[in-house]
Amino acid sequence: MKAIIPAAGVGTRLRPHTLVIPKVLINVGGKPILSHIIDKALESGIDDIAFIIGYKGNQIQEYVESNYSFKYRFYEQKEILGLAHAIGLAEEYLRDEPVFIVLGDTIFEADIESVFKGQYSSLGVREVEDPRRFGTVELDENGFAHTLVEKPVDPKSNLTLVGLYFLKNGKILKESINELIQRDYKTRDEYQITDALQILINRGEKVTTFHVDGWYDCGKPETILSTNRQLLQRMKQNYKVEGSLIRPPVYINAAAKVENSIIGPYTTIAKGSIIRNTILVNSIVGNESLVQDVCLKDSIIGDRAVISGSFKTLNVSDFSEITL
Ligand code: UTP
Repeated sequence: MKAIIPAAGVGTRLRPHTLVIPKVLINVGGKPILSHIIDKALESGIDDIAFIIGYKGNQIQEYVESNYSFKYRFYEQKEILGLAHAIGLAEEYLRDEPVFIVLGDTIFEADIESVFKGQYSSLGVREVEDPRRFGTVELDENGFAHTLVEKPVDPKSNLTLVGLYFLKNGKILKESINELIQRDYKTRDEYQITDALQILINRGEKVTTFHVDGWYDCGKPETILSTNRQLLQRMKQNYKVEGSLIRPPVYINAAAKVENSIIGPYTTIAKGSIIRNTILVNSIVGNESLVQDVCLKDSIIGDRAVISGSFKTLNVSDFSEITL
């Protein structure tokens, strides 16, 4: 089964990290966001993936080429014109056959194998309290989608699109995207996949929804950290490091070094990093970084960074109050 993963975006909300690497290569729960998505897709029966790359796309291509050997292809989105435009570039993947689409920054947990066996096209959804930041789906009495709205001001449904789309026939989606672009129909200045899907529904395609059990957004620093927490919780790995206290759940790469430190809970330390005389809580440290003599929480540290603090010295009398 074929899949398309759009990963061309700039990731502005994740600056400064995305000034150096593309969002999808940020490490969360021990491996890059993109690897979580690829691994899940491969274990669910996907064997051929189109990656839509743009911003820092050569790094994504290099990463996939040096870590995977399944069938894949890269399409360059030269201008970030929206998801529908991005997906439409993968022409060879939008033929008269099923295709699965998953956003490059959406780690998910869902039984997509069953979805692939279904009779209809189907969109991954979750119920959220405030759907105004998302695309929403309104269903008819038979459970088929009839109206999709991108970031509704006055939402009529709290069923939200989470970035997983299964189409029974990729060609019909391609035709809908072509129509959207020909009509130059933009929402918030972009060709939206939500609008292309609405055209597809209006043309008579029957589209159902499926529930996405786990939806781990990676669009902002806070959501990267909460996704890291949830992934670590699921991994349930135990680490012992002599001379340090490890408070699970954590991920410590076998090629990382921890000395005289307190690590966790909810901390990821990637390959080759050294953590020394440090307390590190609810944080992510990328590859080959050095963190020493500091007390950090809720932090995201990239690759090859050097963070070093110092111990303070005080000479204070009884009843003093000092906040450092
Ligand atoms: P987002 O709009 O959430 O991601 O798109 P972004 O643009 O990278 O991040 P911000 O908003 O600037 O912080 C969701 C996914 O769709 C891809 C993005 O790469 C991301 O994986 N995308 C979006 C494209 O590939 N092309 C587009 O034109 C738009």
